[in-house]
Amino acid sequence: MVLTTLLLCAFSLALLSYGQPETLENHNSSDLLSTCDKIAAAISGASQVFFPPASEYLFDIEHFSPSSTEASACSVEPGSAEDVSEILRILGSTRTPFAVKGGGHSMNPGFSSTTGVQITMSRFNETRVNSASGTVDVGAGLTWDQVYATLESTGVNVVGGRIPGVGVGGLTLGGGYSFLTSQYGLTVDNVAGYELVLPNGTVANVTSNDDDLWFGLRGGMNNFGIVTKFILKSHPQSETWGGFLTYAENQLDAIKEMLVNFQQRTDTKAEVIVLLPYSSGQFSITVIYFYDAPTPSRVFDDLLDVPATGGNVSTRSFSDLVQSVGPLFAPTNLRLLYEGVPVTQYSPSVFDAFVNQTKLWGARLGALDKNVTLNSVLEPFDKGIFSHGSGSAYPPDRSHAILPSVLSLQWSNTSLDKIMASSLRNISDTVHTAALMDGQNVSHAAVYVNYAIFGTPLEDMYGRNVERLRKIRAAIDPEDVMGLAGGWKF
Ligand SMILES: Cc1cc2nc3c(=O)[nH]c(=O)nc-3n(C[C@H](O)[C@H](O)[C@H](O)COP(=O)(O)OP(=O)(O)OC[C@H]3O[C@@H](n4cnc5c(N)ncnc54)[C@H](O)[C@@H]3O)c2cc1C
Ligand SMILES: *[C@@H]1O[C@H](CO)[C@@H](O)[C@H](O)[C@H]1NC(C)=O
Ligand SMILES: *[C@@H]1O[C@H](CO)[C@@H](O)[C@H](O)[C@H]1NC(C)=O
Ligand SMILES: *[C@@H]1O[C@H](CO)[C@@H](O)[C@H](O)[C@H]1NC(C)=O
Ligand SMILES: *[C@@H]1O[C@H](CO)[C@@H](O)[C@H](O)[C@H]1NC(C)=O
Ligand SMILES: *[C@@H]1O[C@H](CO)[C@@H](O)[C@H](O)[C@H]1NC(C)=O
Ligand SMILES: *[C@@H]1O[C@H](CO)[C@@H](O)[C@H](O)[C@H]1NC(C)=O
Ligand SMILES: *[C@@H]1O[C@H](CO)[C@@H](O)[C@H](O)[C@H]1NC(C)=O
Ligand SMILES: *[C@@H]1O[C@H](CO)[C@@H](O)[C@H](O)[C@H]1NC(C)=O
Ligand SMILES: *[C@@H]1O[C@H](CO)[C@@H](O)[C@H](O)[C@H]1NC(C)=O
Ligand SMILES: *[C@@H]1O[C@H](CO)[C@@H](O)[C@H](O)[C@H]1NC(C)=O
Repeated sequence: MVLTTLLLCAFSLALLSYGQPETLENHNSSDLLSTCDKIAAAISGASQVFFPPASEYLFDIEHFSPSSTEASACSVEPGSAEDVSEILRILGSTRTPFAVKGGGHSMNPGFSSTTGVQITMSRFNETRVNSASGTVDVGAGLTWDQVYATLESTGVNVVGGRIPGVGVGGLTLGGGYSFLTSQYGLTVDNVAGYELVLPNGTVANVTSNDDDLWFGLRGGMNNFGIVTKFILKSHPQSETWGGFLTYAENQLDAIKEMLVNFQQRTDTKAEVIVLLPYSSGQFSITVIYFYDAPTPSRVFDDLLDVPATGGNVSTRSFSDLVQSVGPLFAPTNLRLLYEGVPVTQYSPSVFDAFVNQTKLWGARLGALDKNVTLNSVLEPFDKGIFSHGSGSAYPPDRSHAILPSVLSLQWSNTSLDKIMASSLRNISDTVHTAALMDGQNVSHAAVYVNYAIFGTPLEDMYGRNVERLRKIRAAIDPEDVMGLAGGWKF
């Protein structure tokens, strides 16, 4: 009896911590359609409900990867915070499962998709510079490349995503690693305020004066309501330098040595991302370069001495630089999962572990599905990255830098979904063990919320913040309205 109860508790906790907790058992399609109709009747002309097979509906449910797309009963595009409020009240009172989609780049199924009501934020598309306050208002439905394109002519910029298509919403609610992070910190360290629709429908402006919500919203994802606008600190932006270069496998040792040395830099304007993809029996190397000035300092000289086989680096606008790396992350019809592997540095042995695992599992999984691509992505940020902000849901420990690092796995065959997820966890465990063996203090290093694979325990991402976050969630959302949406749940 006790054991059964314990097992049941463990099971419900597991369900509560991720994915879609509300079952659809009590929501047959006629219930769902009647909720859709209620919403349609309650919202203003600024907003609209769509049903399949309308093109707007298909846009609303679409995700970067098809493994994150589900057919909802209807979709709604709210156009005002007041309408979001109406929608949340209806969803809460009918206990209808729903999802909130920003840029749709979550790779965890059910985090921004649903078979209930899909909310898509695309109508919140304003980018407005406020020079007096040194901030930029950014609508929650924009992608970062759209924001950068609008800011290109203004001489200012914000600290956001590095790849075209990634949404402002999810990235900012989870932390946010940027080309400007070594200089200015995470995206959450560069938020001045939020316009938030609370779970009970109240529209609020949240700032650093709001102790608990301010803490929770900076890393706590969709637990506290729906954000309609982010007010971001602005920074002056000149032309930049960078792009990407590709290298043959025989340059691996050279790239490793240069990467290890690059981590000693003190110039925070310089960033690189090292991609180590294995696909169709081929292992290759790509380095994305960024320098926050029209001409780089000598910080990349050693890396640039390694002969490249393709790509290009040049002086270009920030917006153009972000666009230029787009082809490396072009949307495909492949299934996708990410997993974060936090390390404190890319030492030679940790670098080797990433490479060995990428090759080993790339070949192993490639034998099951020839469309497999396994990619290790290394992000050697500056040692001071967490010193630019104060207490937030993520990262739970700002005392020393953690390099988020991500493994990405793509495949085609839906019958292999479970094998792919468990293999990715295995790879991550192996690299984690290699970092421990290297003497790195990573036994409790926080996995980046926006990289963690579904099923990751909250403690692994939020550390000792979990208890406080659970209390805040219970106080802000006593009816557990946001629990009707998928994602990490406190
Ligand atoms: C190709 C690629 C490149 C990436 N590059 C980076 C990078 O450079 N830096 C980085 O830090 N991360 C990066 N990521 C990870 C990225 O931050 C996450 O995938 C992020 O969640 C995507 O946000 P989104 O709005 O596009 O996703 P969505 O799938 O739309 O949303 C993700 C989560 O946020 C919630 N959410 C979104 N908007 C709102 C809102 N307005 N209110 C409440 N909840 C909301 C959703 O409900 C969902 O749970 C990348 C991912 C990919 C696939
Ligand atoms: C769906 O649910 C509604 C109300 O809960 C009920 O009246 C109806 O009979 C159900 N339909 C089916 C097909 O179960
Ligand atoms: C914002 O969305 C509205 C309505 O969907 C559209 O008319 C407008 O062109 C969009 N603005 C931008 C800057 O994309
Ligand atoms: C939020 O701030 C904006 C801009 O200062 C203001 O216009 C609006 O009334 C505020 N909303 C609430 C609910 O306080
Ligand atoms: C830069 O490299 C990309 C990728 O190889 C290529 O598509 C593009 O044409 C190149 N641009 C220039 C100016 O050489
Ligand atoms: C990686 O593989 C190489 C060559 O097979 C081997 O020498 C090295 O020890 C391996 N490193 C790790 C960390 O597994
Ligand atoms: C790989 O992708 C191709 C092209 O999209 C597709 O035709 C094929 O079925 C896929 N292979 C597997 C094993 O699913
Ligand atoms: C998909 O995987 C299953 C299970 O391994 C296998 O039986 C099936 O043949 C695969 N399909 C394709 C198209 O390769
Ligand atoms: C990973 O997979 C290998 C090979 O299948 C297995 O030997 C090993 O025990 C697994 N490791 C973990 C941590 O699951
Ligand atoms: C090791 O990391 C933990 C958090 O993961 C931190 O609390 C602790 O202070 C670190 N120890 C050292 C010696 O840096
Ligand atoms: C809605 O929730 C907020 C935050 O918990 C609370 O301050 C406010 O009083 C609530 N409003 C209503 C009408 O219950």
